[in-house]
This record gives sequence, structure tokens and C-alpha cells, in this order.
Amino acid sequence: MKYIIANFKSHKTKGEIESWLEQFQAHAALDTKLILALPFPYLQVATTKLDVAAQDVSPFPPGSYTGAVSAVQLADCQIKYCLVGHSERRKYFHETSMAISNKVRELLSVGITPVVCVSEADLSEQFATLEDEQIKKCLFAYETLADIGGTTTTPLEQIRVEIDVIRGYTKNSSLGILYGGSVNAGNIATLTGLVDGVLVATASLDPDNFSLVVQGFAPHV
Ligand code: PGA
Repeated sequence: MKYIIANFKSHKTKGEIESWLEQFQAHAALDTKLILALPFPYLQVATTKLDVAAQDVSPFPPGSYTGAVSAVQLADCQIKYCLVGHSERRKYFHETSMAISNKVRELLSVGITPVVCVSEADLSEQFATLEDEQIKKCLFAYETLADIGGTTTTPLEQIRVEIDVIRGYTKNSSLGILYGGSVNAGNIATLTGLVDGVLVATASLDPDNFSLVVQGFAPHV
């Protein structure tokens, strides 16, 4: 299976998400799953075009943790995927690798697939807290820090080398490795064949742009 994930981060209101869904027309290849990662209030938006993912989850089980949304609650909303450890969470919310592995544990306990985001910084530390049994059941998204924001692009050769390094850490994953950071309609074709999918933020915010990304990936899968 291949995965193309749109990550809206904290962009868009309910009405804007609904009109994005109306406009978005692309069809993925049969072996490609389209996923839309939305903020918590909008997880139950009605759509048959994509699977909806959460962007975060509590590292704790259900209980007295004000402001936190538990994996049990996400599962209750029929959520099947959840981003974990995005570099913005690590940077602005001071998330540690230990907290991230607790989130992975919580998600797996209710059958939600974690999409664990990793970057080139301290890779071994980012993987140290994940057990082999967990790695097997996670999707991974490798994002070059300088490329996040959609304005720069690391040379393909460098991405190839970095993905090989990640494959060393995730060799037990049955799901695969996605690439993220400045993925757009112009560079999507170069990534096909190299990774099992992509995580797209800036180029996903416009539905026509995101359709081009999906179409650019599909003919090669
Ligand atoms: P970008 O961000 O597509 O805007 O570069 C990717 C991400 O942060 O997941």
C-alpha cells in the first residue's frame, strides 16, 4: 500500500475544510490510500474521498489529563491513523521521544496506525524509545527539517541516502516510509519509487494543487 497524507496543521475552519473537500477531485490508484490529517474539532467531517487522521494524541490512557485527547476517544471517532512526533510538536510543544513512544503505545492499543514523524536530528535518539514490536506496526514519515514549510528542496540523491539510513532503523516495519518537506506537484514524480508515500502540508492546502500531487504519484505506483 502507498500513502499520500495531507497535513492541514492548524490551517482552515470547518467551512473551508468542507469546500476543500467539495473541490478536491483526484482519484488515487487502487493501492494508494489518501489521508487528510485534521485538527481535533474537525475529525468527524463527512467525506468518502479520504481517510481522516488526527495530528496528535495523548501519551496517557483515558483519565484526568485536562486538554488531552486519548487514543480511545480517537478510535471512538473511527480514526484509523494519527500523526505522532511531528517536528513542530517536538520543537514548539517540547515533545520528547519518550512521550512519542507512549503515544505510539496508546494508539496501537486501540488499533490506530501511528504515522511517526522523524527528522535527521538525533535519529538514533528518536528511535531508541520505540520497540521492534511497535516499529513493525507504524508508518514512518521522514522529513528534512530545512524543507518543512514548502520552500526548499533537498537534492534527490541526499534524500535517497537519508531514506536508506531510515530503512536501517525501520526494517521491521511492514508499512513503510513516507517522505515529507516541500513535496509538491513539481517534485512528486521524483519521489515515486523511492518511498512508500508522502506527507504534504503547504501543497495540500489548495485542493487543485493537492490533486496534482496525487495524480503525479499515481501513475508510478
Ligand atoms: P510542507 O510541510 O509540505 O509544508 O513542507 C510538511 C510537513 O510539515 O509535514
